[in-house]
Amino acid sequence: MEKTLDDAHQGRLTKDGIRIHEAGDFAGMHKAGHLAAEILDRIADHIVPGQTTGELDRLITDMVEAAGATSATIGYKGYKHASCISVNHVVCHGIPGEKTLKDGDILNIDVTVIVDGWFGDTSRMYVAGKLSRKAERLIQVTHDALFKGIEAVKPGNTFGDIGHAIQTHVERHRMSVVRDFCGHGLGRVFHAPPNVLHYGRPGTGPVLEEGMFFTIEPMVNLGRPETKVLPDDWTAVTRDKSLSAQFEHSIGVTADGFDIFTLSPAGRFHPTY
Ligand code: MF3
Ligand code: CO
Ligand code: CO
Repeated sequence: MEKTLDDAHQGRLTKDGIRIHEAGDFAGMHKAGHLAAEILDRIADHIVPGQTTGELDRLITDMVEAAGATSATIGYKGYKHASCISVNHVVCHGIPGEKTLKDGDILNIDVTVIVDGWFGDTSRMYVAGKLSRKAERLIQVTHDALFKGIEAVKPGNTFGDIGHAIQTHVERHRMSVVRDFCGHGLGRVFHAPPNVLHYGRPGTGPVLEEGMFFTIEPMVNLGRPETKVLPDDWTAVTRDKSLSAQFEHSIGVTADGFDIFTLSPAGRFHPTY
């Protein structure tokens, strides 16, 4: 049987159902990832006490549209916004709305855009006003945990190696890794195999291969790891009301390591540097 042109350009699936992309596919991911990261750069100046999360989302919606791109989240499972904005003890999937930011609030903004059919998914932390010492510590540990995970990405390592690197770093600092949400494969789709766990044992899970595209997006709590989803069916919060932080990059596995698609064009991924 002849392959159709479409199949010929889709690469192959591993036994775990993980898509192996082709060399040319990295460019598409870079374009989508670049836009998502640029939007997170440009929203930074708007994060001040008194601002509402709904207004931040409107600005993001306009930026996606002005770029000629599509929001991956508007219409996704009934979600109506171009971003998730998760403030303080909200772990993820915070819905933008009337909530007004106050001095010292920390927030994660998560944006996913589609450019030429490719998905770019990234999130980072911000502060409205002055960052408290304990929030700064949480954000630093979460940021560093993401990069420990990314540094474990190379062909031959496993997804368990990524999770283990993240978990070890977080628990060394007496904080906890959220178990209820995970990273995910992506590419021409938003969410695909595998589930990328942010905890685990070395050498377990699928083996990484060149051409895999996925997110790593650890959520870290100052208190206990348990979460619950509010009656709006989206907003996930820490059960103990402790502060939570998250960073997310979309990455690809290369011949000898990783390629981050969602690096900040402005070099501003962390709220303090
Ligand atoms: N961007 C989120 C992720 O990292 C998913 C958000 S789905 C939404 O996977 F519908 F809540 F926006
Ligand atoms: Co994601
Ligand atoms: Co995301």
